Amino acid sequence: MIDKATVQKITDAADIVEVVSDYVHLIRRGRNFVGLCPFHNEKTPSFSVNSVRNFCYCFSCKKGGSPVNFIMEKEGLSYHDALLHLAAKYNIKVEEKELSDDERRQLNERESLMVANEWAASHMEKDLRDTEEGRSIGLQYLYQRGVTDEAIKKFRLGYNLDGGHALVDAAKLEAMDIQSLTQVGVLGESQKMPGSYYDRFRGRVIFPVLNASGKVVALGGRDLKGGMAKYINSPESAIYKKSNELYGIFQAKSEIAKQDCCYLVEGYMDVIGMWQAGMENVVASSGTALTDGQIAMIHRFTDNITLIYDGDAAGIKASLRGIDMLLAHKMNVKVLLLPDGHDPDSFARENTPENFQRYVKEHATDIIRFKAQVLLKDVGDDPQRRTNAIESVVQSLAHIPDKVKRIVYIQECSRILGVGEEVIEGAVEKLRSNVVEQQRRQRQNSQIDSMDQAARNPQPDVSHQMRPSKSREMLEDYPFYPFERTVVYQCVRYGILDFCEVEFDDGTTDMINVAEYVADEIQTDEIWFTFPAFAKTFNQILDLRDDFANERVTFNVSLEKEKKKMLKAGYDEIAAKDMSMEEIRRAERLLEDSVGEEISKRRFEFARYFVEQKLSSHHDDDVRRTVTEAMNEEQPLSNIYLRNNPVSERKMEIDRMRVLVPRSVLEWKNELLNQRIKSKMKQLQSLDPVSQHEILLEIQALMEKRGQLGKVMGDRTIGTKFK
Ligand code: CTP
Ligand code: MN
Repeated sequence: MIDKATVQKITDAADIVEVVSDYVHLIRRGRNFVGLCPFHNEKTPSFSVNSVRNFCYCFSCKKGGSPVNFIMEKEGLSYHDALLHLAAKYNIKVEEKELSDDERRQLNERESLMVANEWAASHMEKDLRDTEEGRSIGLQYLYQRGVTDEAIKKFRLGYNLDGGHALVDAAKLEAMDIQSLTQVGVLGESQKMPGSYYDRFRGRVIFPVLNASGKVVALGGRDLKGGMAKYINSPESAIYKKSNELYGIFQAKSEIAKQDCCYLVEGYMDVIGMWQAGMENVVASSGTALTDGQIAMIHRFTDNITLIYDGDAAGIKASLRGIDMLLAHKMNVKVLLLPDGHDPDSFARENTPENFQRYVKEHATDIIRFKAQVLLKDVGDDPQRRTNAIESVVQSLAHIPDKVKRIVYIQECSRILGVGEEVIEGAVEKLRSNVVEQQRRQRQNSQIDSMDQAARNPQPDVSHQMRPSKSREMLEDYPFYPFERTVVYQCVRYGILDFCEVEFDDGTTDMINVAEYVADEIQTDEIWFTFPAFAKTFNQILDLRDDFANERVTFNVSLEKEKKKMLKAGYDEIAAKDMSMEEIRRAERLLEDSVGEEISKRRFEFARYFVEQKLSSHHDDDVRRTVTEAMNEEQPLSNIYLRNNPVSERKMEIDRMRVLVPRSVLEWKNELLNQRIKSKMKQLQSLDPVSQHEILLEIQALMEKRGQLGKVMGDRTIGTKFK
């Protein structure tokens, strides 16, 4: 854990223009900067960076946010790691919160395993080029397979000398921890002679496996002599769980996001072959079936995946293996078979990049269509096999969460399989509930699993990396969602600004801010935010009141100093000029006016952007996401208008806030009344006359209230209380 003060220091230091400039070429445009969006492919810039608000966003794909949020998305990092990333950039020392001895031991263990792997990988990277043996055997092998120097560097390929003790000796010389090196499988311990070690990867070309943050978590070693094991890999350890990693993800992730598509291949060399053919958005599952964890990792960057396999029987079988799981993750899945006997690596070698890319474009088939076609081809006249094939397709269809999508596929499969639509639909819907139940149980288990694992193995939270899933079914549970959203977004914008004076019972008065006004209004009608992310965000905004009061004091002090400095500089400049007394007085008045204007503008901006400054880098995913979305949605005022009219900009905002916020609250309440009336009407039908009368009275009261509300809304006035 990073303590709160340090988080503050980091978010204060991180300048959005500087942070984004590491990835995007920015051009100044008025108060803002623009550039090509780093999250999707585009030719005209729609990515905008606002230095005043320290915030960036893409008008087109809606990504962006505070510096922390930007780094999280761009680098695929957790909140914690994104803060460390920024701390490093700004040379801020991070002292993590005291950990328990147990946590520290585990963290230390992970750390020393990472160090061991990193050391071994870079040592063998050097040996590939800097030793005679490395060049004549390892490098020679790679060149012969068409691997370029660029790819060798990018994927950090290496070579472990064949002597059997090159790394053992180097490790001893450099005082590396032998135990850690053994745990990650770089060294092996002799069974005959305990305490004596050897290089496990000796005589092999090395493929380091980097996790999404670029840390070496494992190594793969390719045999060059036709030995028994073509590859040997690192054993599983505290830092390596094979089923959770994807080879190439670090090198591919930004391209996956940009292309909004990920290619999945089988092996190390396939990734490199595709990469060299200009398709950099590629990862490998390293010869095993895809797992949930791997799919979730890809899903962080895109919804679209294309599986690439050898067109032989084994390849076809493999391509059908993981599809139900992919469909259940709401991925759009395509499959591409290469000509028989080819893997992406060999195909890349025999074709130009252009041809390869064209082949991929032309041959990628939707997975369900593909499955139906493949299975049908196999069945011939055998009715039992035909039934099996149909059942298998139905099984896959039942894994598609989206109903509309499911129906489209059912139509298509009905055509391919020559079976009536209703028949397939009936079978699918019947199975669907089983699938849903099964998934629910799995989720429950895996939640328990991960809680268990978290307890054993503390790690920074990565749950945010799942994409927000505001699915339709879920929103149905929140009938007031759109109303709540409007109000909470407005509170992100205006929440801390003064709204009105209120008088208390004891005769004292106090100024309440916009968020407090909203809270007061909705509580009167016993409403509160029901959508959890909004409730959380709104509470955070309410909680900012004291922070705001305190920080405003400090801010005003420094603003006063700034004002004096600006005035002094201006007076000095005037004094240096040769002017009459009259002219001097006029110049001074002008100066005082413009400085006063500048100061009041800054004071306004401090309040206006306080909520977003505080919450757009918040550690809670729901809060940060809600605030970021609210900021994204805001329509900036026309630049030309602003340039000519800086004072009325602020006045307009205040005026707008005074109208918009009460109106949105009223609309929310109105909807609530509608719902209540509706449900009372329903009750009415099933009651005896006496109770009916009571209900009718209630309905009447509700309608009256709605009428009053409607009048207020129609008048667009806010009620005398707020004038
Ligand atoms: N693999 C492994 N151990 C093996 C064989 C395969 O770990 N004994 C994994 C490797 O990650 C390998 C992937 O499975 O990259 C695919 O295996 P395969 O197609 O046999 O190897 P290729 O990647 O094609 O390697 P090469 O082209 O060098 O033969
Ligand atoms: Mn191969």
